[in-house]
Amino acid sequence: MTLEQRIKSYKEKTGFPESLFISEDRRIIGIWIMGNNYKVASKYYGGYPHGYLKRIYSLFPDKKNILHLFSGKVNNEIFPGDTFDINENLNPTYVGDAHELSKIVKKKYDLILADPPYSVEDCEHYGTCMINRNKVLKECEKIMEIGSHLVWLDQVLPMYKKSALKTIGYIGMVKSTNHRFRIITIFEKI
Ligand SMILES: C[S@@+](CC[C@H](N)C(=O)[O-])C[C@H]1O[C@@H](n2cnc3c(N)ncnc32)[C@H](O)[C@@H]1O
Repeated sequence: MTLEQRIKSYKEKTGFPESLFISEDRRIIGIWIMGNNYKVASKYYGGYPHGYLKRIYSLFPDKKNILHLFSGKVNNEIFPGDTFDINENLNPTYVGDAHELSKIVKKKYDLILADPPYSVEDCEHYGTCMINRNKVLKECEKIMEIGSHLVWLDQVLPMYKKSALKTIGYIGMVKSTNHRFRIITIFEKI
């Protein structure tokens, strides 16, 4: 799908106000203001804000083979895909450390949705150590085909290998007062 078709699908499927455009250098650029529903349905610390996955799935209606990385309590009956988390109590498809992703996951995905912990303080809530973003991105690359996408939600732009991944989108995310601003980086495997 072209970037134009992705934005068209987003508009049609969500009905949300127009907030994405395509820059001259061919990237999806925009800001999402996530609305008044501040509650995380699962009540899980760091859970996706209401409407986040609906927006992402509407941008990628063509993807059939989806992995939720750092999946937490994602509801994969509503948002289909395999799940990967270090916490076995969450009952993910794969239990493991994202730094070892390609050793554990033996198939390729055409879309990876990653929601890592953003800080040491966040990690304290999960009882984990802070991740090395650079290493996890390298692992993601290994389970992506050319043309696959990685949607990485974070507070920083992680380091990545420019010969393997290109950024095709940056979408800022505003939740509500006193919540952190976040940015969604969309990578494409080249
Ligand atoms: C921000 S939460 C994800 C929340 C999820 N988006 C949701 O809506 O429920 C981050 C998740 O990463 C997991 N995690 C932390 N370190 C990890 C690691 N090294 N490998 C895999 N998962 C990890 C935590 O257990 C936690 O569930």
